Amino acid sequence: MKSDSNKIIIFDTTLRDGEQSPGASMNQAEKLRIATQLETLGVDVIEAGFPAASEGDFKAVEAVSKQLKRTQVAALCRASENDITKAWEAVKNAAFPRIHTFIATSDIHMQYKLKMSREEVVENAVKAVRYAKSFTDNVEFSAEDGSRSDRDFLCKIFGAAIEAGATTLNLPDTVGYAVPQEFSELVRYVMENTPGMDKAVLSVHCHNDLGLATANTLAAIKAGARQAEVTINGIGERAGNTSLEEVVMSLNTRPNFFPETTSIDTTRIYPTSRLVSMITGILVQPNRAIVGANAFAHEAGIHQDGVLKNPMTYEIMKPETIGLSKNNLVLGKHSGRHALYSHISSMGYNLSDEELNLVFEKFKHLADRKKSILDEDIEALINEGVLRS
Ligand code: KIV
Ligand code: ZN
Repeated sequence: MKSDSNKIIIFDTTLRDGEQSPGASMNQAEKLRIATQLETLGVDVIEAGFPAASEGDFKAVEAVSKQLKRTQVAALCRASENDITKAWEAVKNAAFPRIHTFIATSDIHMQYKLKMSREEVVENAVKAVRYAKSFTDNVEFSAEDGSRSDRDFLCKIFGAAIEAGATTLNLPDTVGYAVPQEFSELVRYVMENTPGMDKAVLSVHCHNDLGLATANTLAAIKAGARQAEVTINGIGERAGNTSLEEVVMSLNTRPNFFPETTSIDTTRIYPTSRLVSMITGILVQPNRAIVGANAFAHEAGIHQDGVLKNPMTYEIMKPETIGLSKNNLVLGKHSGRHALYSHISSMGYNLSDEELNLVFEKFKHLADRKKSILDEDIEALINEGVLRS
């Protein structure tokens, strides 16, 4: 949409593309837990899964749809009636449902994977969007392998999808092949040459095969994209997706360069990162930007000296901005319920009284065996006591 708005819609696909990371599959309770945290974090859209992929995924998307009150819930589906019907069945109870349908548009995908001509692909896309539109006004259309597609064909299929009723057009760099300048030129070209683009939002969805997913997403935002598809910790198919924390903190940390804003509560970033890592079992590498264990650690003497005099000498962001606990209280067997509760909430968790009681009980047992209790221990207790109960 060519609007004056500088608001970037954050579309989180941790529960769908993120789940496609090897070994990251999640059960319904785990998806619900992450979805609730993502809502607290303030994402605009949660892609909860691919309902046609399995009965389990269908049920998880359905449960997430029923649970969330403020956030849009999207379900992914191929451009087929059967997939779209399943997607709708799964999200129809959401407060704000979205159907996200896709078909590949690059010559290589159309020829070898789909075995369809360009005309057939456009016809399928239009039929799919029209069918999705018969259920909801909130329809997203993705041109899979968009960055390797012929750009005029891309404009043609996007224009046809808008005419059929799509309100968001997503341009994916499916195989992580794009480089920032080229990708921003493509985004600009699509914005300027797609008929009806002023009535829709242009979205980007980047993969990290060359380590450029965040750079490509930011370049696309500069060129006018207004939705960014991201995952927590950048998890996702192969080398992963654009990471939410990198995009959001880049926009926040460089406001003079980026007037664009998001509705993310950045103080929830770190706890969300920990939760996703804990549930998926995918560890966050220590030197990872924003959420890695070393992201705010200073080893060199000169750096330590500088940081003690003024943290901004070597820190471009304050740790508290992403929700890193400043609480230095040491927890052990003498700690009471209240100290534990306040520590847990300073770590960004929002547990019910019943959940807190469960964790407290486990904490007391652990404190009998272990002198000092670290944040990692508390996370493990929350994981055992709450997520797996
Ligand atoms: O990478 C991709 O192209 C996708 C689409 C289904 C949006 O995940
Ligand atoms: Zn993807």
